[in-house]
Amino acid sequence: MDTVMVRRLQDGDPGGLVRRALATFPVQRWVRPVLAKYFRPEGRQGQPYLRIPMPSRLGDTASQIMHVLGGYVEVFLAKEGHSGLIGINLLTKLQIPTMGTLYGAMLAGVDYVLMGAGIPREIPEVLDRLAAGETASLKIDVTGWTGAEAPRLHFDPREVLGGVQALKRPNFLPIIASNSLATLLARKVTGTIQGFVIEGPTAGGHNAPPRGTPVFDERGQPVYGERDVVDLEQIKALGLPFWLAGGTGSPEALQEALAQGAAGIQVGTLFAYSQESGFEPRLKQGILERAARGAVKVFTDPKASPTGFPFKVAEVEGTLSEPEVYRRRTRVCDLGYLREAYQTPEGKIGFRCASEPIEQYLAKGGELANTEGRKCLCNALLAAVGQGQVQKNGNLELPLVTSGDDLERIGRFVARFGTQYSARDVVAYLLAEAPVPRTEAQPMMANG
Ligand SMILES: Cc1cc2nc3c(=O)[nH]c(=O)nc-3n(C[C@H](O)[C@H](O)[C@H](O)COP(=O)(O)O)c2cc1C
Repeated sequence: MDTVMVRRLQDGDPGGLVRRALATFPVQRWVRPVLAKYFRPEGRQGQPYLRIPMPSRLGDTASQIMHVLGGYVEVFLAKEGHSGLIGINLLTKLQIPTMGTLYGAMLAGVDYVLMGAGIPREIPEVLDRLAAGETASLKIDVTGWTGAEAPRLHFDPREVLGGVQALKRPNFLPIIASNSLATLLARKVTGTIQGFVIEGPTAGGHNAPPRGTPVFDERGQPVYGERDVVDLEQIKALGLPFWLAGGTGSPEALQEALAQGAAGIQVGTLFAYSQESGFEPRLKQGILERAARGAVKVFTDPKASPTGFPFKVAEVEGTLSEPEVYRRRTRVCDLGYLREAYQTPEGKIGFRCASEPIEQYLAKGGELANTEGRKCLCNALLAAVGQGQVQKNGNLELPLVTSGDDLERIGRFVARFGTQYSARDVVAYLLAEAPVPRTEAQPMMANG
């Protein structure tokens, strides 16, 4: 979100959105240097984007401030113009930006925090502490760490605000794909959780890997089985509300979820192709037109993501889903969000990514097998929202598009709403056949 913010500024800040949000940030001395460095009223004129330096150690205050501002801007904008609830959705695997992003989101009044792709065990306590204006800390996974205590990253809100301010503590919903993880989180977290999102393997974005020995189908996709089905009766017994995600973007699936005791559904794919979504408009339009004819396949790629989690990829011409386009790209690691922390031979913490140039990864002790088929999600996902970097060698970073399996069945929706639809249409579609009685406003989530 910090990179999306500085890239929007360099593209002239269309609509003045980022500057409008930043103008309300409580400490303007953090904002002024960001505007001075990144805002280009006339746009970039084909020049490469100026990048935020990659953090090279834990607890780097300059990068933490950028995470705070990034989270603040997204949530401020998402909350504008309505009184509905707003959630922020982060990947647990991505640890370094987490606390700053959450704090920025909380300064903008975020109502819900959702986190999947990992076990977000310490996040409830982080939220409690940040809300009280106290220093929070998070254990950082460091491959090969032999030290007595696991390294921890600290975040002190007083360093941002210059004093203590109490904030609303958002509700926390871990995104889970198994009963055992739900039970673990319900019983063994530090702090409290307010419910679960239960996400199946058809969902867009990252998926949980199947349980047990890995098995692949003839296209090379991981095969999910009985053991990957979540028993909702057991979830109900935990006594917390839950929402169902992954292929639940239809009125029938909503009704079924409610009948099974869910509080509602979490939908990604249908919203990802709405006009409000950040996907680059021509890319979005082209995919939707083809998908409506049943001409786009979704591949569950077990290798693409440096996180090691399966990642859903829409197979689209001109994107990195095509083997030829992938092969033509020169590897570069210049954003570094998905880097893994590891212990160096000197006993320090280094960072490496299985998608970085192979010789660099090997020099850092990485294994060759891990690099095969890995894609630079950092650059590719930014390209998918129209912020592709022009690299030093003149190459333009190309997109990779993630979508749930539902994209293959989007024709039914498009036949009714067309290819230019709004998020409001999606909600109307989901509620149309039997409006959901509303006891309290249901949250709407925006993905980073
Ligand atoms: C474009 C796109 C981006 C997503 N990004 C994230 C993310 O950053 N973090 C996350 O937890 N889930 C992410 N998801 C998953 C959604 O939050 C949601 O659970 C999922 O899309 C629901 O299934 P559906 O795609 O079948 O509607 C993403 C989904 C899509 C389509």
